[in-house]
Amino acid sequence: MKILLADTLFSDGVILRDHGIVFDKTIIDVSSNDNLRSRYGEQCIELGEGSVLVPGLINSHVHLEFSANRSTLTYGEFMPWLSSVIAARDELVNDCDDGCTTRAIEMMLSNGITAFGAVSSYGFDLEPCFKAPQKVVFFNELIGSDPMMADALYGNFQERLFASQELTRDGFYPSVAIHSPYSVHRVLIQKGLKYAQDKELRVTTHFMESPAEREWLDSNSGAFAPFFQNFLKQTQAANTAEEFLSYFRDVPTLFTHAVHASDEELAAISEGNHTIIHCPISNRLLGNGVLDLQPLEEKHIRFVCGTDGLSSNYTLDLFEEMKIALFIHPNDDLLSLAQKLWKGVTSEAAEALRLNCGKIMPDYDADFLVMRVNYPINEQLPIHLINQPRVIESIYIQGEKVQ
Ligand code: BEZ
Ligand code: FE2
Repeated sequence: MKILLADTLFSDGVILRDHGIVFDKTIIDVSSNDNLRSRYGEQCIELGEGSVLVPGLINSHVHLEFSANRSTLTYGEFMPWLSSVIAARDELVNDCDDGCTTRAIEMMLSNGITAFGAVSSYGFDLEPCFKAPQKVVFFNELIGSDPMMADALYGNFQERLFASQELTRDGFYPSVAIHSPYSVHRVLIQKGLKYAQDKELRVTTHFMESPAEREWLDSNSGAFAPFFQNFLKQTQAANTAEEFLSYFRDVPTLFTHAVHASDEELAAISEGNHTIIHCPISNRLLGNGVLDLQPLEEKHIRFVCGTDGLSSNYTLDLFEEMKIALFIHPNDDLLSLAQKLWKGVTSEAAEALRLNCGKIMPDYDADFLVMRVNYPINEQLPIHLINQPRVIESIYIQGEKVQ
């Protein structure tokens, strides 16, 4: 058992001055420093002025297999980017060996990310994810809109999924990703979701990321039309958005992007108790626009933040992601937005991913960061923690100091 006394504890929207924690693998107690000093005396470790305890950050959406990308992929617009992914896929994936994947995982850890949801297209990131110190929700991706290929593609998905299910450790969760409404045949979606539901696996998908996806799903036209004609000889979208959402009705799912979701689609997302993953940097780099947060608030849809992969980002850093989000939503109240963003990388993300972390409260896993600030702390701390140069002094996962 350890006792850390901090200047400030910031968890789930609440700022507590002169508070500390008692923990082993989980958090045992949160109390005022005076109280802890009188109960535990010499056992207390004083972190001193400017020390701030925050929950470890949770990155809900990353693609580690594409971590070799720096300048290979074409940014600015979605279709040229997707075409560049397809053209360079083999080269990029081959260039990312276990060392490359592990460096991306270490990059996340040094940026305070103690849990992440990794979308795995090929299973090449399985071993590094299994060996990672972080909690990992390992989303095996199901993709393929060609019905002729359905059995083979489902078989390949199952092989990867079963391989991930054979690896067991605390904090490793084999899960399911349905790639997107335009890229997965309904038979595959229904099979994948049924399996996930039976086994109570976590589920994620991409949804309404680009204007091109909107147009293709609505009217079988736009920039996706020549792509599907050339690539798969298809003239019709695999699903309408409405059909696609209906498959997820009873499976609370993390929907990534949703920048171009309509009001009715957002209503269905709200009804299904789903979550939206906001990836502001990826959305900007791929020319997809900005997620409007207002309808999410009105419809009580939980939103969390993700980095997406290095295939559409220059870093894997949720502090950077929160900072960009603060600046691309200029009409949202600054402090309320900062609070929501913090929840979206801690408590709300943990709830959506069904992880026992994201809050510094008794019975939650002791996954937290010791940060240090060199300015007076006040009620605007959530803003300053995002904008000021950040110092993470140490990182704990399940009570173990990992950095
Ligand atoms: C498809 O199989 O339909 C597909 C795969 C990758 C990207 C887009 C579509
Ligand atoms: Fe993604």
